[in-house]
Amino acid sequence: MPSDVTKPPEAALNEPTPPEPKPAGGVEGAAAVTETAAVPPEAEREPTPEPAPRAGTPLDDSALDQLFRAAHTQYGFTGAAVSDDDLRAIFELMKWCPTSANTSPARFLFLRTQTAKDRLRPALSAGNLAKTMLAPVTVIVAYDPKFYDYLPRLFPHTDAKPWFTSNPALAEETAFRNGTLQGAYFMLAARALGFGLGPMSGFDNAKVDAEFLSDRGWKSNFLVNLGHGDPAAERPRGPRFWFDETCLLL
Ligand SMILES: Cc1cc2nc3c(=O)[nH]c(=O)nc-3n(C[C@H](O)[C@H](O)[C@H](O)COP(=O)(O)O)c2cc1C
Repeated sequence: MPSDVTKPPEAALNEPTPPEPKPAGGVEGAAAVTETAAVPPEAEREPTPEPAPRAGTPLDDSALDQLFRAAHTQYGFTGAAVSDDDLRAIFELMKWCPTSANTSPARFLFLRTQTAKDRLRPALSAGNLAKTMLAPVTVIVAYDPKFYDYLPRLFPHTDAKPWFTSNPALAEETAFRNGTLQGAYFMLAARALGFGLGPMSGFDNAKVDAEFLSDRGWKSNFLVNLGHGDPAAERPRGPRFWFDETCLLL
C-alpha cells in the first residue's frame, strides 16, 4: 500500500509488483466483496477463456469503416431484434478494455421491455423521447462509486482499495473517468458486432438514479440506444477537426 495515498494509483503501478501478494482484508475482505457483488464466488464460475497473446496487426479497411469511418450515430433502427445473447456478446468484448488499476467501474442496465422503457420515459428530454421509445434496447451506462470494494478481486496483487477509500475525490474521478471509458468501449464493441448506436446525455440523471440505481448506490452517466441502425434515419456527418488543430507532436 502506498504511504502517500494522494498520489495517483497509476504512479504506484510503476512500482515493483510484490511477490505472492495477499488480497486486502484476506478472507474476510473477499467475503465482503462477494456479498456486495451478489454474484457466485469467482471459484464457482468457469474462467473466461483468453486467447493467446498476438502481435497487433491493422484491421482491414472494411472493419475500420464499420467501426469508425462509415459508422454514424443512429437515430432510428430496423425492426431486427437484439437478443440478450447479443448484449452478453458486447459485454464480453468490452470487459477486456483497460481501466485504471482494473477498476472496471461501469455498470450497464439494458432496458429492452416496454415496462422498463416506461420507467425511463419521465427522465428523457423531449428530443430524445420518441427515438428512445422505439429503440430495441436502451442502455443506461452507469458507474459504481464504490467500485473499490471489488479491488481485492480485480486487482489482487496489491492492496489498492485504500487509495480510494482515503480519498473520495480521487474515487469519484476514477469512477467517472473509467466508467466513461467503458461506455465508449461498449459502443465500439457493439459496432464491431454490427450494431448501431445512439448515445444520449439529454436526460435527467437524478430521475434515472432514483428510478433505477439508488438501491445499489450506482450513478447514471449516459444512455445509449442500441439496435440495427436504419441508414435512412442517419443525419449527415458533422465536420471533424483536422489533426493539427487538436494534436501536438512534441
Ligand atoms: C455522450 C454523448 C451524448 C449525446 N447526447 C445526445 C442527445 O442527448 N441527443 C441526441 O440526439 N444526440 C446525442 N448525441 C449524439 C451526437 O450529437 C452525435 O454522436 C455526434 O454529433 C456525431 O454524429 P455522427 O456519429 O453521425 O458523426 C450524443 C453523443 C454522445 C457521444
